[in-house]
Amino acid sequence: MKNPFVALSLFISQVLFSIITPFLLMPNIARLRFTRHLIAFCFGRAYGNRYQNIIDTFRGKYGSAMARGLAKAKEMAGNNIGVIVDCGTGTGFVTKQAAEQFPNAVFIAFDLLHEMLMQARNNCRDITAEVSHVQADTFALPLADESADLVLVQNTMPCFMEFARVCRPGGIVVYVDSSAGWIANIAKRLVKRYLLFETVVGERIDLGFYVLAQKAGKDKEYGKLQIEGETEQQRLYNLLRCPIDKSAVSIKQDGVCCNENHQFLFHDGIPVMLAEKAEG
Ligand SMILES: C[S@@+](CC[C@H](N)C(=O)[O-])C[C@H]1O[C@@H](n2cnc3c(N)ncnc32)[C@H](O)[C@@H]1O
Repeated sequence: MKNPFVALSLFISQVLFSIITPFLLMPNIARLRFTRHLIAFCFGRAYGNRYQNIIDTFRGKYGSAMARGLAKAKEMAGNNIGVIVDCGTGTGFVTKQAAEQFPNAVFIAFDLLHEMLMQARNNCRDITAEVSHVQADTFALPLADESADLVLVQNTMPCFMEFARVCRPGGIVVYVDSSAGWIANIAKRLVKRYLLFETVVGERIDLGFYVLAQKAGKDKEYGKLQIEGETEQQRLYNLLRCPIDKSAVSIKQDGVCCNENHQFLFHDGIPVMLAEKAEG
């Protein structure tokens, strides 16, 4: 990293994210409308189109903390990873990276912003794993309880209460910040404080860190991850739930409808499963 401009911008992002990230890990601050809108604006709308340039600034090291987190998850869960959730998928970087490790898993990638999901969908066209993109908020994931084996969260809003709800017993969350390596231990302690997970490990990697949290029940038998003969679409809709009342959903011609009659329209073929966008 010889270019002084690159070195300076990486140093500034380290300072900035080392200050911001602990606040995002405090549920009372993270769930404020103000915080969530600010993050969605800064990480999404303001930088969305330039996010690939930011990734390139890291000169191949953007994914190093997630790579270590994924390797650790594989070590702990072996081949029991069937459903992987990428929260705040952005350009789809994490989905692509994880698909290399878990090529047979089913991926569901969520983002608050339609524009980012379009980028992610485009970038993930060449991967062999099955990936569905859904517009949703990390704080109200439209997923059934205990439906995910692995939840991936990088450089976006963490909501560990929601992650613990959607994780199967023994399921794992890998949370990464690629710039705030200085606060790796603080982040680990903050995640431990929720007492939602049995095991919490993590470490600093390059400029960033990962925290891996595993739910209790790892000795239990995993559920049947894929039902034989099930199509890709059926599999997705078996996992999805209404973000408002968590009831099951079914596919209609122009959208998704839940048992309580909340309707969520498709936008460019992507289900918009945001509570505030529900019809009916
Ligand atoms: C900085 S980008 C990171 C993208 C990707 N995880 C990565 O590491 O390359 C953050 C992404 O999170 C999304 N985001 C921000 N707040 C969110 C929320 N509450 N729910 C879902 N996505 C959110 C933004 O729209 C943006 O696409």
